[in-house]
Amino acid sequence: MTAMRAKTLTVAATALLALIVGLWAFRPPASRANGDKDHDKEKGGHAHVPAPLEYADIHVPLSVWTDHAMIARGKGIYTTRCAVCHGDQGDGKGPAGMALPLKPPDFRDEDGVAEMRDNYWFWRVSEGGQVEPFKGKGSAMPPWKGELSVEDRWAVMAYQHTYSGHNGPHVPWEHPGSIAVGRDIYAMACVPCHGVVGKGDGSVGPMLAPRRAPQPRDFTNSEFKFRSTPSGQLPTTADLFRTLTEGVRSEGGPMTIGLRGHRIMPSFQHMPVAQRLEVLEYVKSFNRTFWDRQEIKVVTVPTPPAMTPDRLAGGKKLYADAECLACHGERGRGDGPSAPTLKDNRGLPIAATNLTRPERFKNGARPEDIYRTLVTGLAGTPMPSYADSLEPDQVWDLVYYVLSLSQDQGRTAGTAAR
Ligand code: HEC
Ligand code: HEC
Ligand code: HEC
Repeated sequence: MTAMRAKTLTVAATALLALIVGLWAFRPPASRANGDKDHDKEKGGHAHVPAPLEYADIHVPLSVWTDHAMIARGKGIYTTRCAVCHGDQGDGKGPAGMALPLKPPDFRDEDGVAEMRDNYWFWRVSEGGQVEPFKGKGSAMPPWKGELSVEDRWAVMAYQHTYSGHNGPHVPWEHPGSIAVGRDIYAMACVPCHGVVGKGDGSVGPMLAPRRAPQPRDFTNSEFKFRSTPSGQLPTTADLFRTLTEGVRSEGGPMTIGLRGHRIMPSFQHMPVAQRLEVLEYVKSFNRTFWDRQEIKVVTVPTPPAMTPDRLAGGKKLYADAECLACHGERGRGDGPSAPTLKDNRGLPIAATNLTRPERFKNGARPEDIYRTLVTGLAGTPMPSYADSLEPDQVWDLVYYVLSLSQDQGRTAGTAAR
């Protein structure tokens, strides 16, 4: 008995420690800090800030870097468009480049090029010096997105890459230094739960929900719950960013007492945006399929229509017809007849969400969030996607019905929950 109790306490202490560490805002080691290269005037305007979310998912297909036809096509583009500043030798000493106060970098510098991630590189070629922090520094690098197609931009990058002398594809697992900042943050903030190699097997994980789901995500597996992409797809970087920023709420349990929103994963909203982006580039590197996808489809969430009594009635009927109640129970309390038998993709028992507590929904509780949950499903759990079986109007009916389930409780539990 007492041994058990002592163990529970140690467990609680470890978990709390991890959470406190997790809530801290990190300072990556100075030698690795973004923008550090600015101090190195010799190397020109390098400032390897992470690519913004609009560009974060644009990973160059691996074959491009070594494809001779692409490299030849890129050489033609480089000679006519880039060499005037970047130089015939890629050394940044083109006639126009020499005159600039902020010099083009030397692409023969293997380490400097290795630090540039593919999505950063593509962003720079696309937007040039028109975006911060480069604009503020007076960069003369032109934007090319209006003039060069995506493939042309890949081609010229592949050619530029040859100056560095590196022969393989330009990916993080060839250049671990390019994700070192993220690795350091991950080691401090994520390892206790997600594990050293991202398999979701950190020491704290099992204590959060002993022998039950959810366990921290296994990043090497392609099943992610919180997505704006269709069932079976990887999430976008923006989806991962949302999860990291919001954390993951839960039904509660001993380890979540006292945590805002009963989060089973803390919110990292206080971590600077650049650091959140860095750690996500590291997280993605656990799963190379992030570099395999060519086109990313995102489900569209229409603007929520007005809630009407008709919608509620329609939703109530659908809730029965679509068998939501088999898992979530007639009154949405998570006590449907199938609930006790549900398992996640690791074979662990998983609870059907108590729909009367929307403030604890993991994927958000605004009408558009619940819409997204219903059309994407929660991969790796029994919660299916209804994208193929329901019309958008029917989904909205269900969304409003789900939200109405908490109203019966409103008077008793509502105030305490908020
Ligand atoms: C008018 C001169 C000029 C032209 C033309 C030009 N660049 Fe640049 N480029 C620069 C300058 C100056 C910098 C350094 C400042 C910065 O990073 O914005 C730069 C930076 C870059 C960087 C970022 C390197 C890093 O280390 O962050 C890339 C990539 C790049 N250029 C690619 C190209 C490509 C590809 C072309 C042709 C399609 C091109 N540039 C044409 C001036 C130019
Ligand atoms: C206290 C433990 C804990 C810490 C610390 C933690 N996580 Fe998590 N994380 C979890 C749990 C548990 C889940 C799974 C929640 C679920 O499945 O409902 C999760 C899920 C995720 C997901 C997956 C979302 C999805 O769509 O499936 C991402 C991404 C993620 N965490 C990133 C991070 C990153 C990056 C860090 C470090 C900055 C981190 N987490 C720190 C516990 C943690
Ligand atoms: C086969 C069982 C099953 C069926 C059928 C099912 N669900 Fe779920 N649902 C689950 C499970 C399990 C979860 C919890 C997943 C988790 O915690 O990661 C869930 C989660 C949810 C969530 C909460 C997501 C969040 O953000 O935390 C909502 C909302 C939801 N379901 C609504 C519905 C509706 C509406 C239907 C019918 C159209 C439905 N479910 C059908 C099992 C089911």
